[in-house]
Amino acid sequence: MRTKYCGQVKLSDVNNYVQLCGWVNKIRDLGNIIFVDMRDKEGIVQVVFNSKNKKIFQESCLLKQEACIQILGIVKEREKKNKNLILPTGEIEVLVEKLKIFNNSKPLPLDFNYENNEEIRFKYRYLDLRNLKLFNNLKIRNNISILIRNFMNKNGFLDIETPILTKSTPEGAKDYLIPSRIHKGKFYALPQSPQLFKQLLMISGFDKYYQIVKCFRDEDLRSDRQPEFTQIDIEMSFIKEKKIRQFIEKMIRYVWKNIVNLDIGKFPVLTYFQAINDYGSDKPDLRNPIKIIELSHIFKKNLSFFNLKKNDDQNYRIAGLHISYNLKISRKKIEEYKIYIAKYNIKKLYLIKVTDVLNKTHGFKGSINSILSIDVIKKLLNEINLKNNDLILIVADNRNIVNHALGKLREKIGKNFDIFKKNQWKPVWIIDFPMFKKDEAGNFNSVHHPFTAPKKDNITELKKDPEKTLSNSYDLVINGCEVGGGSMRINTKEMQKTIFSILKISKELQEKSFGFFLKALNYGTPPHGGIAIGLDRITMLLTNSKSIKDVIAFPKSTSATCLMTKSPNTIKNIELIELGIKKI
Ligand code: AMO
Repeated sequence: MRTKYCGQVKLSDVNNYVQLCGWVNKIRDLGNIIFVDMRDKEGIVQVVFNSKNKKIFQESCLLKQEACIQILGIVKEREKKNKNLILPTGEIEVLVEKLKIFNNSKPLPLDFNYENNEEIRFKYRYLDLRNLKLFNNLKIRNNISILIRNFMNKNGFLDIETPILTKSTPEGAKDYLIPSRIHKGKFYALPQSPQLFKQLLMISGFDKYYQIVKCFRDEDLRSDRQPEFTQIDIEMSFIKEKKIRQFIEKMIRYVWKNIVNLDIGKFPVLTYFQAINDYGSDKPDLRNPIKIIELSHIFKKNLSFFNLKKNDDQNYRIAGLHISYNLKISRKKIEEYKIYIAKYNIKKLYLIKVTDVLNKTHGFKGSINSILSIDVIKKLLNEINLKNNDLILIVADNRNIVNHALGKLREKIGKNFDIFKKNQWKPVWIIDFPMFKKDEAGNFNSVHHPFTAPKKDNITELKKDPEKTLSNSYDLVINGCEVGGGSMRINTKEMQKTIFSILKISKELQEKSFGFFLKALNYGTPPHGGIAIGLDRITMLLTNSKSIKDVIAFPKSTSATCLMTKSPNTIKNIELIELGIKKI
């Protein structure tokens, strides 16, 4: 039907006939001549309907924006003054001799010149996807997948599919359940990840597995979370944690080099505790140069000033953010920050302003004047590179509250002052997460998942103090976005059962839910580990998209519905009865 794509007609085609298929992108009617920008997946070309050719001209008057058409025409070089060098086809145009309208178009419910509301965009997603930005995002997503497949293939990995109708694997969210018609009252779970299957493949001896795979999690959605999303899922045997990280770094560098032509550099490593201590987050955006500064030791004699109790030094923290004068934070902004930080349970935001860095008696002002002794100021100057007009914002409270609040404030200041430079990439590995965190009821939950190995292979120590146990795990964070997470795995039944019992999974439940896996651990399980990288998230980063929805062809709305097909939908009673969900 076509001899060329619209976006590929070139100067070398001048005086040749071309047959093109595509859509009417824009119509300019100059009375006796009509210009149409015609679009297909490769780009846009200008086609011309001249009134000298009466029949074609009359036909072209019927054309509506977004009509789907075919044209036959002769390629002409544009006059110099009419050339548009921004467009790859801007030096030529196609003089139309034949036109076929496959399907004219009604006026679109969307206008690509404006930001359309999400409801209308998702209802007409097939039209929304005609938007060049989204169209390109999906092309880039495809390129990333191809690069990864090539890379994995070159490195000896096998792409192995794992079941979608399966049994629940706990990854921290709720499962999507599928009722079984044959086994009434029983359910499959859609996989939250292929975690157990990839471990079983290591027991089978496949050694290097990968899969670009859909995962399903019923959890609250955010700008980087969808109920169904895609992981680049990887598992390897006979390998140590550091080598896995090195391999993933190589893969990410390869993708970045080929997509944005940039060397993303070496990935620094922070332990979980360093990250929380210095950035108040386990996914710090290292483009933001502001770090949390420790002040507890400097103000250790001033606990009562900060309403902190003595002899409680395990649990309190006095810390601050050093804000350079370059940011020119106004009083109004400080007031805004006080309100903001109160949301994170901070009652008071203290302030030191440096008016004269050389004057230790009068050069430091603010709401903690009464405790700013020369001794304190000397210590501050020793530890912080202060300059005139710099600010230190200080909070003092329970350690976790301080870390969280300062982490949030650091992010807010970063966003307010546009500290984040475009096209700057700051990857970081966060390692050594705690194995468990306690919930409000005092029960332990896995920080990663229950198949993650502890850093030390010592069951007695682990049982003694689960809360202090570190895991052999790693998250990859790029520009503040958690793009991947993984760990070394438990490879003995004894350790796996110990973890289950710390998680208070009863013996019966262990057998019922994971019996098949515990059994498999008896048959020569190799040491193994792996990781899963969020394909949607790296595509978001590489396309500079604010929302995960902009890199998925048919995403769900924030309330997990598909506004186009109207799913989820109700099911007829008869079907519910057939599935054994409803009684007759
Ligand atoms: P984890 O749960 O950390 O690990 O997930 C790995 C990566 O998957 C992406 N991701 C998501 N992306 C979009 N929407 C979501 N709802 C969503 N949830 C997760 C993130 C995340 O870093 N089985 C383990 C991996 C392993 O241990 O090998 C797992 O799934 O980018």
